[in-house]
Amino acid sequence: MSEAFKKIASLRRIWIPCAIAAIAVFIGMLFSRNAELAGRLNELMESYDGPWNLMRDKSFPYDSLFPKEMRSQLEAMFGHARQWYQTRDFKVGRNLSEQGAKPRHPVILLPGIVTSGLESWSTTQDEAPYFRTRLWGSSSMIRKALLNKDHWVRHLMLDPETGLDPENMRVRAAQGLDAASYFAAGYWVWSKLIENLAAVGYDINDIYLASYDWRLSMGNLEVRDHFYSRIMAQIEFNSRVYGEKTVLVSHSMGGTLALYLLKWLEYQRGSKWIDNHIEALTSLSGTFFGVPKSLPALMTGEMRDTVQVPDVLSNLLEYYFSAQERAELFRTWAGSASLITKGGDAVWGGRHGAPDDMENSTMTHGIMMEYAEHKKDNKTESEKKLTMDEVYPWLAMHTDKYFQRMLHTNYSYGIERDPRKLRANNKDPTKWANPLEVTLPHAPNMKIYCIYGWNKPTERSYWMKEVPPEDALNERSPAGSSHSQTLRNDSVSKRSHATSRIDGTFNDENAIPTVNSGVRMGEGDGTVPLLSLGAMCVHGWHMERYNPARIKVVTHEVMHNPEAYDLRGGVSSGDHIDILGSHDLNEAVVRIATGLGDTVEERIYSPIREYSKKIQW
Ligand SMILES: *[C@@H]1O[C@H](CO)[C@@H](O)[C@H](O)[C@H]1NC(C)=O
Ligand SMILES: *[C@@H]1O[C@H](CO)[C@@H](O)[C@H](O)[C@H]1NC(C)=O
Ligand SMILES: *[C@@H]1O[C@H](CO)[C@@H](O)[C@H](O)[C@H]1NC(C)=O
Ligand SMILES: *[C@@H]1O[C@H](CO)[C@@H](O)[C@H](O)[C@H]1NC(C)=O
Ligand SMILES: *[C@@H]1O[C@H](CO)[C@@H](O)[C@H](O)[C@H]1NC(C)=O
Repeated sequence: MSEAFKKIASLRRIWIPCAIAAIAVFIGMLFSRNAELAGRLNELMESYDGPWNLMRDKSFPYDSLFPKEMRSQLEAMFGHARQWYQTRDFKVGRNLSEQGAKPRHPVILLPGIVTSGLESWSTTQDEAPYFRTRLWGSSSMIRKALLNKDHWVRHLMLDPETGLDPENMRVRAAQGLDAASYFAAGYWVWSKLIENLAAVGYDINDIYLASYDWRLSMGNLEVRDHFYSRIMAQIEFNSRVYGEKTVLVSHSMGGTLALYLLKWLEYQRGSKWIDNHIEALTSLSGTFFGVPKSLPALMTGEMRDTVQVPDVLSNLLEYYFSAQERAELFRTWAGSASLITKGGDAVWGGRHGAPDDMENSTMTHGIMMEYAEHKKDNKTESEKKLTMDEVYPWLAMHTDKYFQRMLHTNYSYGIERDPRKLRANNKDPTKWANPLEVTLPHAPNMKIYCIYGWNKPTERSYWMKEVPPEDALNERSPAGSSHSQTLRNDSVSKRSHATSRIDGTFNDENAIPTVNSGVRMGEGDGTVPLLSLGAMCVHGWHMERYNPARIKVVTHEVMHNPEAYDLRGGVSSGDHIDILGSHDLNEAVVRIATGLGDTVEERIYSPIREYSKKIQW
């Protein structure tokens, strides 16, 4: 056991120099004209070995592949090497350790969408060279995606009919703590939390990172990978070996997955088992009611930071893949459909207004999608307005039959108020990921902690425009690369084509909320709106209907107050991902794990309570 720990520890020791080396090489490439700098960086590089040597390949055409503005973004991203190297983050753990905190509950980490690495397990002639290399979640992913786009897409696409691997292709989630500690060189995800847990005495024996193939639908995770069975076995193992209940810590979509997991466990083992084996569900930046931006992403391939990756990466993907290609790829990822907004107009509002509109709003978020028609006298009038309830059938209408069938058989987006029907839904897996259609398990000793950031503008509703079908079909990726043959040739090409886009040319500074590039911003953590993060925690689960066992639910908000000099916002960020490095959150999670959960206080800065009252529960 201690050997395994040593191995991990040494891995981490290698990791940091590797990250630095990769960054150095990147900068070297970007500034190859500055010979002196490049020379020095190469020298630095010589002293390290590792997977990043790939990037030294001189034949890689950085200059022609990256447009100028992207090079400067990369420069900004990789240019603060020293800051990343300096970790300040054992602090929280050391402090708590001095105060006597000791490991108590074993911890299972459930990552969010896209933060788990994916690797190839294909063994055919063509694919063998990529065997066990990361197709997602590493720096070499950028390289693979750009140099061999068709190949990369073919690998990451799922069979639209079964939602599983296409023929001859196998892609699996990377395993172990490193699967989601870092997303790519230096871009940390879980590593700070792991460091702080380690500082109070945790190690690989009592932290289990449940990485999963986030492309799969929640049902298929069990069908193909026995994902929930594995977690169940781990929880039972924890109880047997440590004699303690397990703490689940989820991030982002992991929160939705955790709800599904609880229902699955209840179905398999009963709620008594949950009460006896699970100490707490700690949801970080949880996506309980979904994310509005999943709608344009699935409909039109719009990304921005839809998938929560560094901006520079989503820009890269937007640049090299047309909207059409992106939408087709996303739609085979049934897992992402779990982020479709839940609750319809009852939660998100209608023409009369939305729960999270401000008093002085001139436009309501209740209109989720509005089609702009530009008039000659500079006034804009909308010709079509869709509320959330109207967006669902509209999404179905604009997507192919495979996607529609997948949605229909895997997910449900409604709201259920009848306790008898709620009980019946315990046997219906399509409802399990929607907290509005199922009850929490009858586990009165379990606790739920909702920890999330607030005070960062977040996409909430959209101005759209119609694109004639021929244009959508012929649309090339802006980089001018040819439309992927992979996408053209297989069954996918017979799908109906997206005919709507966010109207990126539309701005209105005078409206409240303002419209920037066709997007109306609301409140939240930068990715997930406040309603989705908090309404269930401060209101829904305080209702007997959704929480019959009266499981204690604690809401702990983190004010987004980023440090100016730190790219990731430093120790006081409330950003959707960067919050994983905030002192406040780290302290709360370590306290919960070490059995001091009672000291994590209910704390609310945002108007979530007022907003929640306006939801039509
Ligand atoms: C550690 O504890 C000291 C006092 O006990 C406090 O001043 C300091 O802010 C704490 N640091 C962190 C990172 O929590
Ligand atoms: C979910 O969708 C997949 C296709 O992605 C389908 O094969 C499966 O039967 C659906 N239903 C369940 C319960 O998994
Ligand atoms: C609208 O109201 C909010 C508070 O409800 C305030 O912060 C904001 O400044 C107001 N905007 C305008 C333009 O008055
Ligand atoms: C419309 O706006 C443009 C600039 O945005 C301005 O030049 C033009 O005069 C405006 N036309 C009218 C009729 O206001
Ligand atoms: C796709 O179709 C084109 C012609 O329509 C053909 O040249 C190409 O080889 C096909 N690609 C694959 C991967 O089948």
